[in-house]
Amino acid sequence: MIKKNSHLVIVVLVLLVLVSGCYYDHANLSYPQQNSTTATCNLTSVTYSSSVTGILKANCYSCHSGSAAAGGGVQLDTYATLKVYAANGQLLNSISHTGSVPAMPLNAAQISSCDISTVQKWINNGTPNN
Ligand code: HEC
Repeated sequence: MIKKNSHLVIVVLVLLVLVSGCYYDHANLSYPQQNSTTATCNLTSVTYSSSVTGILKANCYSCHSGSAAAGGGVQLDTYATLKVYAANGQLLNSISHTGSVPAMPLNAAQISSCDISTVQKWINNGTPNN
């Protein structure tokens, strides 16, 4: 009787490990770009079209789309205009709250360290239009 139950416990434990393993695998596959909400920061496939614009869309486009006055005329919603601020250092300085540029997003909490690392990685990669 005792022996039978211990086998059952082992089977249940193995199943739990397998099921939780699958759960995490699927989470990573389903939400590869949601770095800020997952425990790990995945910087292996940073792209302009998905990773960078995703972060800026959520935190910056409200003021920095087109030449909107809300963003002081600073336009960050096209590759060409964003590249200017990536190249002169103001993009990274503004989000990491370093240097002499105003801290961004203006009057809001700093974006996550993973989001900052993602933008930094894109800049370090040479700001590819990928
Ligand atoms: C609530 C509106 C608002 C939001 C949201 C916002 N900004 Fe700004 N941003 C401004 C304004 C206003 C200025 C102009 C400030 C100035 O020149 O003093 C500015 C300026 C900038 C500049 C230029 C700094 C300089 O020295 O000229 C950069 C780069 C920038 N923002 C990046 C960002 C990024 C990246 C985000 C998102 C993480 C963001 N901003 C979110 C309002 C905003």
